[in-house]
Amino acid sequence: MDKMVIVGGKRLEGEVRISGAKNAALPIMASALLVDGWNTFHNIPDLLDITTIKKLLKSLGVTMEAEGETLRMNAGQITQCEASYDLVRTMRASILVLGPLVARMGEARVSLPGGCAIGARPVNLHIKALQEMGAEVTLKDGYVEAKAARLKGAEIYFDLSTVTGTENIMMAATLAKGTTVLKNAAREPEIVNLAEVLIGMGARIQGAGSDVIVIEGVERLHPVEAAVIPDRIEAGTFLIAAGITGGDIRIRDCNPAHLDALLARLKDTGISVKATADSMRVKGGRALRSVDVKTLPYPGFPTDLQAQIMALMTVANGLSVITETVFENRFMHVSEMVRMGADIVIEGKSAIVRGVPKLHGAPVMATDLRASASLILAALGAEGTTTLSRVYHIDRGYQKIEEKFSALGADIRRISG
Ligand code: UD1
Repeated sequence: MDKMVIVGGKRLEGEVRISGAKNAALPIMASALLVDGWNTFHNIPDLLDITTIKKLLKSLGVTMEAEGETLRMNAGQITQCEASYDLVRTMRASILVLGPLVARMGEARVSLPGGCAIGARPVNLHIKALQEMGAEVTLKDGYVEAKAARLKGAEIYFDLSTVTGTENIMMAATLAKGTTVLKNAAREPEIVNLAEVLIGMGARIQGAGSDVIVIEGVERLHPVEAAVIPDRIEAGTFLIAAGITGGDIRIRDCNPAHLDALLARLKDTGISVKATADSMRVKGGRALRSVDVKTLPYPGFPTDLQAQIMALMTVANGLSVITETVFENRFMHVSEMVRMGADIVIEGKSAIVRGVPKLHGAPVMATDLRASASLILAALGAEGTTTLSRVYHIDRGYQKIEEKFSALGADIRRISG
């Protein structure tokens, strides 16, 4: 298994380009299942999770041609409607094929994702919504089996804000008979990106980006050419990297408007960020002030940046309370940061971080995707050498992270093994 060796203490400087958003690319690629014909998607990132969904879609009969960051996909011949345990267990987002398959083929059999490192993460809301649209759903042998000759429009209230749940049902509803209204829908930018793609395919969708989405079903959709939005979590990670190393970075091909919650917090810490429509210049270097953070569905502070902002708070002046409200059990990075000299205590849903002057390098282990990113950030700002093991987690969601950090002057290298 690969490791990452990081010698901390280098000030990051230069320019970095942000890749396409993993969490937008995954549902957009799944949406190809709704159409007979060649779709063209641009700005597809090169990530392990993208390789996984490609494998899954190919196993269903989707044909693909990739050229750089452009991917052409054709689901003219869907040969089977089953997503196997082997594929789903490596990536929960595989559940995104459920809605499109039932809508287009009238049936789907998708392995239940099961537990994962950051909490139970059930898919009950996806299932309940499909049932409300007339699907017959059974749980058998660890699989969700859904059948519906044609889904029917319905009024669906999500008990809590679910990102992939909203995406799955929005896709399913595009081909349903009648109008579907999603209430308490998630509002993430990735949902807006998916809605734009679906609208380009001929879907009738209104309200994506708000908590009520109205989808008027159509008989069929047609192929589309569209682009994936920039990854706001990757951009946020580089913003924090500049802060923790006292650096000066220009982040290009990003969308600062998607990062309001993080930018507001960073301003309070004393980190300066100047944004244009598609770039940001971030300067650290001043003494960092502690801030409190509470994760919430968009437009609140993203849970996918919770671990990274905690890395920053470990070396800020004062006390910071970081509260995780989206997922249970998303503090696995805490014990690793403590091994690097951080002062953090967990109390229920909150982590209380007392800033220390410096972290020091240590052997640490990645436990999930965003936790790995936070440990790299902690290591970049620390004194001495950190060895991060199990880096496959980071490859799931960050494109060539060590190359991007090296180009900014970091001392980071991957050791294969
Ligand atoms: C997506 C993102 C992930 C991000 C998360 C929250 C993708 C591929 N992944 O994950 O990076 O961390 O949103 O912003 O886009 N829940 C239920 N029942 C359900 C569905 C969800 O109880 O049927 C709960 C979950 O356990 C969790 C909360 O709802 O506590 C939010 O989960 P959800 O928004 O669904 O997360 P994902 O879509 O899996």
